[in-house]
Amino acid sequence: MYTLEQTQEFVRKFISENKFTHEPEGLYEPIEYVLSIGGKRLRPVLCVMAFNLFSDDINNVIAPAMGVEVFHNFTLLHDDIMDNADYRRNMPTVHKKWNDNTAILSGDAMMVEAYKQLLKYKGKNFREILEVFTQTALEVCEGQQYDMNFETQLNVTENEYLKMIELKTAVLIAAALKIGSLAAESSMEDAVNLYKYGYNVGMAFQLQDDYLDVFGDFDVFGKKIGGDIISNKKTFLLISALNIAKGETLELLKSTLRDSNIHADKKIKIITDIYIQLGVDKLSTIKMKEFLDNAFIYLDKVNVSEKKKEELKKFAISLSERSN
Ligand code: IPE
Ligand code: IPE
Ligand code: MG
Ligand code: MG
Ligand code: MG
Repeated sequence: MYTLEQTQEFVRKFISENKFTHEPEGLYEPIEYVLSIGGKRLRPVLCVMAFNLFSDDINNVIAPAMGVEVFHNFTLLHDDIMDNADYRRNMPTVHKKWNDNTAILSGDAMMVEAYKQLLKYKGKNFREILEVFTQTALEVCEGQQYDMNFETQLNVTENEYLKMIELKTAVLIAAALKIGSLAAESSMEDAVNLYKYGYNVGMAFQLQDDYLDVFGDFDVFGKKIGGDIISNKKTFLLISALNIAKGETLELLKSTLRDSNIHADKKIKIITDIYIQLGVDKLSTIKMKEFLDNAFIYLDKVNVSEKKKEELKKFAISLSERSN
C-alpha cells in the first residue's frame, strides 16, 4: 500500500518520462506544455489509489490513469477558449500562448490519446472500463453545454446548478476511482461505492473551485480571479445571492449582471462585495462540507480495511481545504 505522497510521485514520474515530442511540433508541443506544467493531477492519483486498495501492482493501472488525466487536460484546452481564460497553473493558457486553432486541434489529439492510453489496459474488465470512460466523456460535454447555456440564463435553480457540476466535473472524478477499482478486478459493489465517493468529492471540488474563483489568490490558484463573475457563470455563490438578495441589493446585482459595458474590475468588486454582504461564501463552504460528509459514507462501505482507506480520506480532506 502506497502513501498519498508516493502515489503522487509515481504519477508525476510517469508523466515526466512519457513525453510528447513527436512531429508535427505544432500539434504535440502544446500537449507536452500543458501536461508538464502539472496541475494537481488528482484524477490519476485517485485512480491509482482506488486500484491500490485492492492490489499493489500499480504499474497495471498507470495507463488508464494517464488516459483520464490526458482527457481532463483536453477538456481544459477547450474550456479555456470557451471561458476566455488567459491563465492556468500560473502559466498562459494554450490558446493564449499559441492560438485558438492550436488549442482546438491539440485538444482533439489529446482526446484520441486518452483512448490510446486506455487501450493499453489488458485486464479482464477492459470493456467495462472503456464503457465507464466513454459514458463519462460524453457527460462532461453535456455539463459544459449546460455551463454555457446558464451564462445567458438568469433563473438557474440550485438543483440545475448541481446537475451541471455533476456532469462537467464530478463524474470524471467518480469515473477515475471506478476505473481504478475495476482495473484491480474489485467487486462491482466496491467499484460503485468508490464511484459515489468520487461523485461527492467531485461536487465538493467544483464548489471549492467556484469559491476560489472569487476568493482565491491568483498566485496560488493559478487562474484569474473573478473570471466566473465576468462571464456571468451561474455558480453556487451567484445563485444563492440571487435567491437571498432583496430590494436595492437585488437591483444592483441584476443591473450589474446585465451591464455589458461595465469595467471588469468594477463588476468583480461590486459582485464580490454583495457576496460578502450576503454571506454566500459561508453557505458555499457549508454545502461543500455536506458533500464531503456524504463522500465518507460511501468510502466507509468499501470492503477493505479502515487502514487502507485512510489515504483516500486524507486526500479528500486536503482537497476541500485547498487554495489551488
Ligand atoms: C480544473 O480542474 C477544472 C475543474 C473541474 C474545476 P483541476 O483543479 O483539477 O485542475 P488541475 O489539473 O489541477 O490544473
Ligand atoms: C471546468 O469548470 C470543467 C471542465 C473543464 C470540464 P471550470 O470552467 O470552472 O474550470 P476552470 O475554473 O476553468 O479550471
Ligand atoms: Mg468552464
Ligand atoms: Mg474554465
Ligand atoms: Mg472554475
